[in-house]
Amino acid sequence: MADDTHVLDRPPPGAAADWTIPQGWDAYTPQEHATWDTLFARQAKLLPGRASDAWLRGLDVLQLSRPGIPDFEELSDKLERLTGWRVIAVPGLVPDDVFFDHMANRRFVAGNFIRRPDQLDYLQEPDVFHDVFGHVPMLADPVFADYLAAYGRGGQRALGLDALKYLGRLYWYTVEFGLIREPEGMRIYGSGIVSSYSETRFALDDPSPNRIMLDLKRVMRTEYRIDDFQQNYFVIPSFDELLRLTVETDFAPLYEELKGKPDIPVAEIVDGDEVLTRGTQDYARGKVGA
Ligand code: PHE
Ligand code: FE
Repeated sequence: MADDTHVLDRPPPGAAADWTIPQGWDAYTPQEHATWDTLFARQAKLLPGRASDAWLRGLDVLQLSRPGIPDFEELSDKLERLTGWRVIAVPGLVPDDVFFDHMANRRFVAGNFIRRPDQLDYLQEPDVFHDVFGHVPMLADPVFADYLAAYGRGGQRALGLDALKYLGRLYWYTVEFGLIREPEGMRIYGSGIVSSYSETRFALDDPSPNRIMLDLKRVMRTEYRIDDFQQNYFVIPSFDELLRLTVETDFAPLYEELKGKPDIPVAEIVDGDEVLTRGTQDYARGKVGA
């Protein structure tokens, strides 16, 4: 995650100076490949009609439906021809400047490990299923590919402006948990959703969360949960519009303005919100301690 702080300050043994490690594809066990296949089969059934057209096309052109955990080199060769991006393996979380440098240069950092069979439904750290199945199809879309590279440059800038907290929220509510309005209806494109069996349905169909049209400043003020379903999803009208808005806006004055304003709690609706569905928040209320 772009805003995580509990990372090492130098590459661990076995990692290169840029923090990359070999994927070690040959070392995956049949069991690990089978875990990928199980996760893949569940999501592939659920996603037509729910995932955005761009994500579905990416899955198809990258031939991700072939059995087993993808080989990053082979996948990267296909992806690079489409949008210039490659997928590289790293040992878990990397420092922010390293993360942004790779991203600005169209290198997508991915975990190479896969979750255990008893963690099919949930795990907090991003594994190869989340990173590759969730993120990489979107990188085959030329507009989204440009957005993420621009985000990487924006991250480098935000580091210097001490504003990562704000920019990180934009990543969270677009790249990880974004919804898009398509001609046929609302669709998901955020990788945290498309790689999750339960959140795929929750994000689109559950009455509990708010679904609000994305506004830059609003999103950058909004807190988020890393350990549960979201209580707000932000909706974009199109990837073209997301790219245009983020690239054409100078974030420096926004950061300055936001530093003087309070954060917005996760489930709150504020003045100016274009609310598409106002959530009941029943899901959050039903939980112990919520
Ligand atoms: N325009 C942003 C800035 O001025 C950079 C950015 C581009 C951020 C695209 C996110 C996505 O910092
Ligand atoms: Fe992710």
